[in-house]
Amino acid sequence: MLTVAVLISGTGSNLRALLDAAADPSYPARIVVVGADREADGLAHAEEFGVPTFVVPWRGAAERDAWGAELSAQLRVWQPGLVVLSGLMKLLPAAVVDEWSPRIINTHPAFLPEFPGAHGVRDALAAGATQTGASVIVVDGGVDAGPILAQERVPVLPGDDENALHERIKPVERRLLIDIVRRIADGELDLAAPALH
Ligand code: GAR
Repeated sequence: MLTVAVLISGTGSNLRALLDAAADPSYPARIVVVGADREADGLAHAEEFGVPTFVVPWRGAAERDAWGAELSAQLRVWQPGLVVLSGLMKLLPAAVVDEWSPRIINTHPAFLPEFPGAHGVRDALAAGATQTGASVIVVDGGVDAGPILAQERVPVLPGDDENALHERIKPVERRLLIDIVRRIADGELDLAAPALH
């Protein structure tokens, strides 16, 4: 059974989908802890499922390394086989990435390498893109630059605003994330040497 730690910043709708999937006894992964950089609304999903939570409050970029060290210490307690960034809106310090690499993945609301960063949906709209997408990647030292494990296109429709487009992308992200975690758990996918999809 693959043990998974999930890190969030926001509403945790993708976390929720993973919790729902993992509640099925035939799913080969279990979420053992959910962490956040603030009192994120999404922590309530974990509590509903009886999954332990922790918060390491973000104290600004000048404190990033100390924050990362605390985050890693919290994760270490649970010894997860996989760390999933599911809407964590802070860049992890290199020491954290190094400690968990390659067993750390991220979900992103764009078709990487297009529109990396904190505003993937907004940037796609601003660029006038007619399609964008969702991606699940291995986290490396760059910003949304690691090996792509799965991705899928999502159309941008006339009249889309950031919220409408993001809500169309999220169900695709959820499906990709649940499938990738399952494939990692089943040993179909080797994060140390991911066959590019
Ligand atoms: C998701 O769309 C995730 O890909 C995105 O934040 C959202 C979180 O939604 N992450 C990033 O943009 C990271 N660069 P959720 O809290 O409802 O799961």
